[in-house]
Amino acid sequence: MAAGIIRLVLVNLACSTICGNLVSGYRSFSIDYTNNCFLKDEKPFRFISGSIHYSRIPQYYWQDRLVKMYMTGLNAIQVYVPWNFHETVQGVYNFTGDRDLEHFLDLANKTGLLVILRPGPYICAEWEMGGLPAWLLQKPNIILRSADTDYLQAVSNWFGVLLPKIRPWLYINGGNIITVQVENEYGSYFACDYNYLRHLRALFRFFLGEDVVLFTTDGNTDRELTCGTLEGLYATVDFGTNNNVTEAFQRQRRFEPRGPLVNSEFYTGWLDHWGDQHAGVDAQKVSRMLAEMLTMGANVNMYMFEGGTNFGYWNGADHDTRFRSVVTSYDYDAPLSEAGDPTQKLLAIRDVIKQFRDIPPGPMPPATPKFAYGFVKLTKVGDLSSLLNTFSPLGPVKSHYPLMFEEMKQLYGYMLYRTMLPRDLSQPTPLISPLNGVHDRAYVSVNGVYQGLLERDIVLVMNITGKQGHTVDVLVENMGRVNFGSKINDYKGLLSNLILGIDVLTDWRIYPLDIDGAIAGGWPHSGGRSFLTPQDQCRSGPAFYTGTLQPNGIAWDTFLKLKDWVKGQVWINGMNLGRYWPARGPQQTLYVPGPLLSTTMPNIITVLELEGAPAHQQVLFMDRPQLNVTAGKS
Ligand SMILES: *[C@@H]1O[C@H](CO)[C@@H](O)[C@H](O)[C@H]1NC(C)=O
Ligand SMILES: *[C@@H]1O[C@H](CO)[C@@H](O)[C@H](O)[C@H]1NC(C)=O
Ligand SMILES: *[C@@H]1O[C@H](CO)[C@@H](O)[C@H](O)[C@H]1NC(C)=O
Ligand SMILES: *[C@@H]1O[C@H](CO)[C@@H](O)[C@H](O)[C@H]1NC(C)=O
Ligand SMILES: *[C@@H]1O[C@H](CO)[C@@H](O)[C@H](O)[C@H]1NC(C)=O
Repeated sequence: MAAGIIRLVLVNLACSTICGNLVSGYRSFSIDYTNNCFLKDEKPFRFISGSIHYSRIPQYYWQDRLVKMYMTGLNAIQVYVPWNFHETVQGVYNFTGDRDLEHFLDLANKTGLLVILRPGPYICAEWEMGGLPAWLLQKPNIILRSADTDYLQAVSNWFGVLLPKIRPWLYINGGNIITVQVENEYGSYFACDYNYLRHLRALFRFFLGEDVVLFTTDGNTDRELTCGTLEGLYATVDFGTNNNVTEAFQRQRRFEPRGPLVNSEFYTGWLDHWGDQHAGVDAQKVSRMLAEMLTMGANVNMYMFEGGTNFGYWNGADHDTRFRSVVTSYDYDAPLSEAGDPTQKLLAIRDVIKQFRDIPPGPMPPATPKFAYGFVKLTKVGDLSSLLNTFSPLGPVKSHYPLMFEEMKQLYGYMLYRTMLPRDLSQPTPLISPLNGVHDRAYVSVNGVYQGLLERDIVLVMNITGKQGHTVDVLVENMGRVNFGSKINDYKGLLSNLILGIDVLTDWRIYPLDIDGAIAGGWPHSGGRSFLTPQDQCRSGPAFYTGTLQPNGIAWDTFLKLKDWVKGQVWINGMNLGRYWPARGPQQTLYVPGPLLSTTMPNIITVLELEGAPAHQQVLFMDRPQLNVTAGKS
C-alpha cells in the first residue's frame, strides 16, 4: 500500500509541474487524463469539498454555514437540487426565499467556494421520495428513473426550467459550478436503463453545452458501477470509513483507467431512523481516512459537512426489511452540527486539510448563541375531528373504497377517512389491514373516542368496539416517502380496504386536510376554537394544542423538547418544524432557528399530538440538542 501511495503522490506532483499556463481571462475546467487530475484554468486542481443542502437550512443562515466551511479550508461545496422542493405542484415553480437556489450559489461564490452541483433528477439524500415530486405517482404504474415516457416528459419539462438558470453559473461561463452530476447512484436502482441515462446526458448537453464536466457517482461495487455509468460521464465512487481506500479507488480505476480519483460522498457521519440507535462516525476515523485519500492526490467531498433539518414533511424513508422513516434532524454527526456549530470533528478535519493546502487565516466563527427559554404551558384547542371545517373547507370526497393521497391530490401530511360502523360491536372486534395497506400510520377513533392505531409493517390489526352507525375516523399520516431502492413508488394513505370482523368497510368520506395553510393563516389564534368540556380536555387521540412563548428581547436558536408527549408535528409562528416522536427516539429535541422567533410579539406554538398529550401539557425550550435517546417500543 505504501508503494502505491508514493506512486500516486509522484503522479500528483508530476501533474503540478507539467501542466500549462493560464491564458489570461480564459476560464476552463476539464479533466486531464494524462496526469490524472482536474484542470482549472489549465492548472492542476483538486477539490476538498463538503456537502450542504440549502433546502435543509433557513436562508438566513446560509452565509454563516458557508463561511464556516470556507474557514475549514474547503475550496468547494457539493449541493443537491431537490426537484420536489421547487415543483411541488406540477408546472408551478418556486425559486424564492428558502428555495432561492441562485441566491445560494451567489453566496457561495462570494464566499470563495466552488460548487459541485447535483441536480438529479433523483437525488436520494434521505429526502422525501429522493427528491422526485409525488405527483409523478398520479400516473399508475409509472416506472420512475427509467425511459418511461411520462417520467421522461416530466424530467424534460423540469430541466427545461432548471438548467437554463444553471448555465450562467457554470465556472466556464463566469460562475462557480465546476462539475455537474447526472442522476445519483443510478447503479443501485433495479432498472439499469441506459436509454434513461442517455436521455439525461442529452438533456444536460443540450442545456449546459459540450464543455462542462458531467459525472456520475455510484456505490462501491462492480454491479453499481456497471449500471450507473455511461460514456461521456466521468465515473466517480462513494464510500465511508468502513471501506478500504485502496480497494475503493481501484474499483473506480476499473471504470476510469485514467483521470482524477474522486470520492463523491465520503461519509462523515450517518442518518437516523425513528426507533434506531443514534448513528455516529468517529472523528479520528474520519480525519485519518481523509488524510489517506488526500495523500493519494484524490478529490474528496465530505457527505455531509452540514446536515441541517428535515423541516415540515421533507424527511425520506427506507424500505429494506420494513418501512423505516428518517427522523426530523439531519444533524448526521457532521462536522458542522444541525444548528451550524463547529464540532471537534471539524477541527480534526481542518488539521488534516492544513497539511495539504493553505487554509484561510483567522479564527473559525464561533457557534451561534443558544437560549433556554424554559417551559411553556399549552392548552388544548380541540380534537382534530371536530376541526374539519377549518382544515377541509371544501368538505370531503365521497368514495365507495378508500382513495390514496395521490388520487386526492394531497401529497403530504395527514388525511382523514370517515365511515360508519355497519353493525353493533359489543365485543372487541378486529380492524384489519389485510394487505398492509396503511401508509404509514392510522389513528382510529369511534364516535370521537380514540381506540388505537395501525402501523405499516408493524401493526396490521387492532380491536375496536362501538354501535351501529357510530362514526369511524381513521386519520392517516404520511411519514415520508421511500427515497432509496426499488420501492420508491411509495403511495400514501389507505392503499387497500380495511376489514372489520368480516365486513369490508366502504362508503368513505375522505377529508383532505390543509393544516399548514390554516396555521400559516393565523389559526388557531385567529379563531375557529371549539368549546371544550372537561371531558374533551383529557381525551386522547389526534388533537391540537397551542401556547405562546412570551418575547424577552432574545431571538436565539433553541431546541424544543416534548417530554412525555408521544408523536406529532409542531409549528412555531406558522413554520412547520417537523415531526417529534420522543416515545421512539433517538431524536428528543427539535431545532428552532432563532430568526423564526419574535423579540417583541408573542411566539405562537401549535402542536398536533396524534396519540395523547401528557397531563402537564408543557413543552421545554433548551439550549442544547438531544438526539441520542432511543426508547423501547412505544
Ligand atoms: C415559495 O417558497 C418560499 C420559501 O419557502 C415561500 O415563502 C413562498 O410562500 C413560496 N411561494 C409560493 C407561491 O408558494
Ligand atoms: C463570482 O465571484 C467572482 C469573484 O469573486 C466574480 O468575478 C464573478 O463575477 C462571480 N460570478 C457570478 C456569476 O456572480
Ligand atoms: C486495503 O487493501 C489493500 C489491497 O487489498 C491491502 O494491501 C491493505 O492492507 C488494506 N488496508 C487496510 C487498512 O486494511
Ligand atoms: C382483540 O380482542 C380479543 C378478545 O378480547 C383478544 O383475544 C385479542 O388479543 C385482541 N387483539 C388485539 C390485537 O388487541
Ligand atoms: C448524548 O449526547 C450528549 C451530547 O452530545 C452527550 O452528552 C451524552 O452523553 C449522549 N448520551 C448518550 C446516551 O450517548
